[in-house]
Amino acid sequence: MKISEILNKSVSQISNNIGISDSASYIEAEHLILKVLKTNRSSLYIDPERSLTIKEEKYFSILLKKRLKGKPLAQILGYQDFYDDKFLINDDVLIPRSETELILPEIIKYGDSISSNNSNFKIVDAGSGSGCIGLSLAKKRLKWDVICIENCFKAIKILNLNIKNLKLENVSVLQSDWLSSLRDESIDIIISNPPYIETDSQEIDDNVKNFEPSHALYAGKNGLKSILKIIQQSRRVLKKNGYLFLENGFNQSKQVTQILCKYNFKDINVLLDYNNIQRFTVSQRY
Ligand SMILES: C[S@@+](CC[C@H](N)C(=O)[O-])C[C@H]1O[C@@H](n2cnc3c(N)ncnc32)[C@H](O)[C@@H]1O
Repeated sequence: MKISEILNKSVSQISNNIGISDSASYIEAEHLILKVLKTNRSSLYIDPERSLTIKEEKYFSILLKKRLKGKPLAQILGYQDFYDDKFLINDDVLIPRSETELILPEIIKYGDSISSNNSNFKIVDAGSGSGCIGLSLAKKRLKWDVICIENCFKAIKILNLNIKNLKLENVSVLQSDWLSSLRDESIDIIISNPPYIETDSQEIDDNVKNFEPSHALYAGKNGLKSILKIIQQSRRVLKKNGYLFLENGFNQSKQVTQILCKYNFKDINVLLDYNNIQRFTVSQRY
């Protein structure tokens, strides 16, 4: 079958099964073909009338079947674009989300303001997963000492591959239960996108529930278990006037702010995501 025919045929299958628009389905079908042909987009259209070999067609239909069953495209492709880079991913790490990208310029802004006279500036990405947050920061600020904390061994494997791919030398990896292995008052900035979904949540998207790792999603009865622990530990681990950046679920901002107040964090700022949801808090340790 010709490339153009395969693309057109799969668009309707993807949009019907996954419930996304035809244009989004077309982009997905293109990505699958590019993976099969191990080529880039511009080469694909040099000869759209080219036919796939039988082997290529078989491989394409395996990938398409996975997608039609709901497996996220990023997991099929094995990578996700985030900020300025491609991050390797698999079933052991959360797929980096575009809303998480929004917090990076804020962290860089605050980080620049306190790192200029500080040769010992340290920033922690707690619950690094693929490393999308910590490694993006490490790449933008080569002088920062970035510590990626993760407790899942399988996720750390992917994290290390991404560190190698991005050729970063200012990152260290710590396998730890949140911040428990860090010294008192040793860190300038902590950022975390922790698990924050209620364990029995009915609102979680089926594709997320079925395909993304539960250790990256769920955080107890009210979804706040990890956030509470990180706030408690940050109080001990942050230097005086250090900053804590937290991502939270769509309905948790008020409770996160209350916990921060309880643990004496000051200047609490809530930031919105693309959908105007209160998605992040930035606060300072007294
Ligand atoms: C929501 S994912 C975020 C991954 C990545 N930072 C991102 O934004 O895409 C949360 C991560 O926290 C890790 N995690 C869960 N519990 C942890 C713990 N007790 N200590 C350290 N990391 C933990 C999970 O394994 C997962 O990789």
